[in-house]
Amino acid sequence: MYKLMKAVQINDFGDRSILTLNDDVTIPTPATSEVLIKVKSAAVNPVDWKVREGYLQGMLNHELPLTLGWDVSGEIVEVGDNVTDLKIGDAVYSRPDIAKNGSYAEYIMVVSDEVAIKPKSLSWQEAAGVPLAALTAWQVLYEIANLKADDRVLIHAGSGAVGQFAIQLAKLRGAYVYTTTSSKNTNLVLGLGADEAIDYHKEDFSELKDIDVVFDTIGGDTLANSWKTLKKEGCLVSIIEEPNETTAAEYGVSAYFCFVQPSREQLDKLTELADAGQLTVSIDSEFELNDVAKAHERSESGRAQGKIIINVSE
Ligand SMILES: NC(=O)c1ccc[n+]([C@@H]2O[C@H](COP(=O)([O-])OP(=O)(O)OC[C@H]3O[C@@H](n4cnc5c(N)ncnc54)[C@H](OP(=O)(O)O)[C@@H]3O)[C@@H](O)[C@H]2O)c1
Repeated sequence: MYKLMKAVQINDFGDRSILTLNDDVTIPTPATSEVLIKVKSAAVNPVDWKVREGYLQGMLNHELPLTLGWDVSGEIVEVGDNVTDLKIGDAVYSRPDIAKNGSYAEYIMVVSDEVAIKPKSLSWQEAAGVPLAALTAWQVLYEIANLKADDRVLIHAGSGAVGQFAIQLAKLRGAYVYTTTSSKNTNLVLGLGADEAIDYHKEDFSELKDIDVVFDTIGGDTLANSWKTLKKEGCLVSIIEEPNETTAAEYGVSAYFCFVQPSREQLDKLTELADAGQLTVSIDSEFELNDVAKAHERSESGRAQGKIIINVSE
């Protein structure tokens, strides 16, 4: 007899109306290298509704029904036979493999390499808001762009979830941070450490010069207008689209696309930073498992000022 749980799933691709809270989903059993996590909180990321709409079908080949949500905090309740570094009762967080079932559920099974001990100083909600967005910022700035002290970095959408972590990680490296934002969010981004906020509704960020690193979180015209801000041999990294190689060569810069990968090692470093009070998480809004459609509506608005959290269990 299988044990059953609640999970928010899709059985097709489409708009928010296809999100279904099922109460008869089989709880997976960790075999060898996985752990089973009792979910406390999940976080919503724009990729959740992009997957729901079917935009990433070519890339991810999801099987249906699919449980959405690829950020989680919770407690380990079962471990596979080969797991020696995590144990039942550990408080953890993770950005699990996006090709598999996600965290809008009472339980999620995750490969142990993708799971880290959660920062003690963060609530379950705050911890769930860290992995996907902060790993993205880490991988873009520290791994791909190799950001250095005194580099001048332009971070687009500093008030977004990725942008907020990017500002903090760039400042920890000693970089000078410009960020685009709306005037309503100026205090937020300056409070996170940004040196200059550029109101993208009123000011033209493309007048900046000699930027070492552009972090593109918007794509389209924002990416197109970013090239000329870079100095020769500068670096542009987009998390939205593959930058044009010919254009990069014309400007004499390097350009990359980044799709975030799970990493326990990097999560461990983020845990240290959070517990040292060097990394903070803003929560935009909180929802229950039976209100995921509203949480998606908020994310799809493009106006969130931090993480959108789904509270799953006490
Ligand atoms: N490739 C990857 O691995 C990866 C990983 C994570 C995220 N992403 C993608 O990156 C994007 C950002 O993710 P996120 O989680 O940070 O999103 P988010 O939290 O939903 O971003 C919302 C924020 O973006 C700001 N914003 C919107 N348009 C803007 C513009 N033109 N200029 C400056 N700010 C603007 C909004 O501020 P205002 O209200 O002031 O406009 C809002 O605060 C999403 O498309 C997501 O899918 C990709």
